[in-house]
Amino acid sequence: MCNDKKQIIADLSNISFSYDSKPILQDISLTIRSGERIGIVGESGCGKSTFLKILAGLLPPSSGTINILGDSTPSDIRKHVSIVMQSAMLLPMTIYENITLGHDYSEDSVRKVLEQVNLLDWVDSLPEGINTYLGDRADELSGGQAQRLAIARAMCKDAPLLLLDEPTASLDAFTAASVMASLEACTEGQNITIVHVTHQVEYLKDYDRILRMEGGKLYV
Ligand SMILES: Nc1ncnc2c1ncn2[C@@H]1O[C@H](COP(=O)(O)OP(=O)(O)OP(=O)(O)O)[C@@H](O)[C@H]1O
Ligand SMILES: [Mg+2]
Repeated sequence: MCNDKKQIIADLSNISFSYDSKPILQDISLTIRSGERIGIVGESGCGKSTFLKILAGLLPPSSGTINILGDSTPSDIRKHVSIVMQSAMLLPMTIYENITLGHDYSEDSVRKVLEQVNLLDWVDSLPEGINTYLGDRADELSGGQAQRLAIARAMCKDAPLLLLDEPTASLDAFTAASVMASLEACTEGQNITIVHVTHQVEYLKDYDRILRMEGGKLYV
């Protein structure tokens, strides 16, 4: 199907954002269609994470409009979006609870996602498996395991729009490559729309569009 006939997932119009009086994003407009994979690159501090937070409904824009699958308020937008950030925020709860975050996902569906992110063997080796309390073990997790858990959390939500904010930036090259492979395995063949901020363009080689952020604006 011709790309411009695909459903519009997200429509951003003239988005600007300032932290206090410091302008970060200026007049950004972007239309994202179902299934698209968009990479965003740009120098450190240019506003990429800020932009993703607006897209995720975690920050309201200072001006402009954002519409994601018909919703425009940050709390409604959040229903349609999953985000994986640079380092995982793990909470003092069990592995299962860290992934479901209060949602009613079945243990089977969580196990399936754990398998996709290559964590199931490790989880099953723990004394209480998926119900192991992470508060006691959070420091024992490697960075790669923590990021895989964060990816499992995002995938379980099964949201149509997945935002990735340098999900492997805190990992060594080998672990980063294997976490990216897990992410590919989870998303392959699914009609999932991805916006991926990264400094590593090699991760974006099969993407539909790579946008560059500079001076608060996005360029093709
Ligand atoms: N909570 C905040 N309050 C004030 N300024 C902030 C805040 N968060 C970020 N900034 C500033 O906003 C600008 C954009 O930050 P942002 O984190 O979006 O950049 P980035 O492109 O993601 O950078 P990096 O590639 O290093 O992750 C930076 O100058 C940063 O210092
Ligand atoms: Mg950032």
